[in-house]
Amino acid sequence: MPTATRTNPLSFLTDQLDELKAKGTHFKLRVLDDEQAPVCTFDGKRVINLASNNYLGFTTHPKLREAALEATRKYGVGSGAVRTIAGTMKIHMELEEKIARFKNVEACVVFQSGFTANAGTVSSFLGKDDYIISDELNHASIIDGCRLSRAKILVFRHKDVAHAEEQLASVKNEPGKKLLISDGVFSMDGDIGPLPGLCDAAEKYGAIMMVDDAHASGVLGRQGRGTVDHFGIHGRVDIQVGTLSKAIGALGGYVCGTRDLIDFLCHRARPFLFLPRIRHPLPRPALRPSTFSKPNHSGWSNSGPTPASGKKNSACSASTSEAKPLPPAKPQSRPSSSATDA
Ligand SMILES: Cc1ncc(COP(=O)(O)O)c(C=O)c1O
Repeated sequence: MPTATRTNPLSFLTDQLDELKAKGTHFKLRVLDDEQAPVCTFDGKRVINLASNNYLGFTTHPKLREAALEATRKYGVGSGAVRTIAGTMKIHMELEEKIARFKNVEACVVFQSGFTANAGTVSSFLGKDDYIISDELNHASIIDGCRLSRAKILVFRHKDVAHAEEQLASVKNEPGKKLLISDGVFSMDGDIGPLPGLCDAAEKYGAIMMVDDAHASGVLGRQGRGTVDHFGIHGRVDIQVGTLSKAIGALGGYVCGTRDLIDFLCHRARPFLFLPRIRHPLPRPALRPSTFSKPNHSGWSNSGPTPASGKKNSACSASTSEAKPLPPAKPQSRPSSSATDA
């Protein structure tokens, strides 16, 4: 029981909240009374919802609801362990294979969220002697991953390829690894990153190229394959991150790339090693859009090319397979203006 004389060691929080209130940046959470729909009820008021990331309406799609219920009945409500101990389920492997094929890469690993996918990936393979060249408006999960890695961070002006190149040039004689990283579609404004120019710069300076396609997957590129497909730059982006929590309507994140990259992440990415898996009712729905009849909803189908060797694309297998490059995609128009962050 606290004594009368004890001072509150957390009183600084109240001071900081008061500062936010004084600046007008303190907010109250809006509470959704019903389901995530184009017209729904927040705080008792019927509104048109233009702020959601549920771009394709999958969050409430009847087939996904049904699939989530079916998976819960069949497997329970969790995987019960981290993946490296006893928590790897067949449905995780199926989901990874499906995403890898869809993105036309060798392999994929699923994380608990896009946030942990970004933060866990960047911090797994870079250290204090390395350099990260990062767009100033990249997502917070990238920024946190950069900080966790302890690498030196060089920020370039938003979408400014020449500035990114300048930053790369400034460290070209340094021995560390260099990572050039950009959102595919930026979370706050919905604008598209200049990926072809950034790939040119990364290739010129031998940097690793990474794209966070959280907002583009399901929206841009053929059948929603993302910005790499939108720009026809298959094979030029070493690491693609995505999420299942926006256009796919569920929860979870993923990383796509070479089999060695994915195998490495399974051994070194801390969220993969130390956090339990996404609950399995979620991978199941994410597998399901392949059954949708509308052509634009076929994003997660296996209609993408099979890896040349026909080998499986799931994570942490020692064997290698080669993804067969898709033909270049024609550039498309920008995504819908609803590509804003929640
Ligand atoms: C650009 C971007 N990357 C990553 C994330 C994280 O994704 P998730 O919601 O799956 O954690 C978000 C989510 O807001 C995002 O906007």
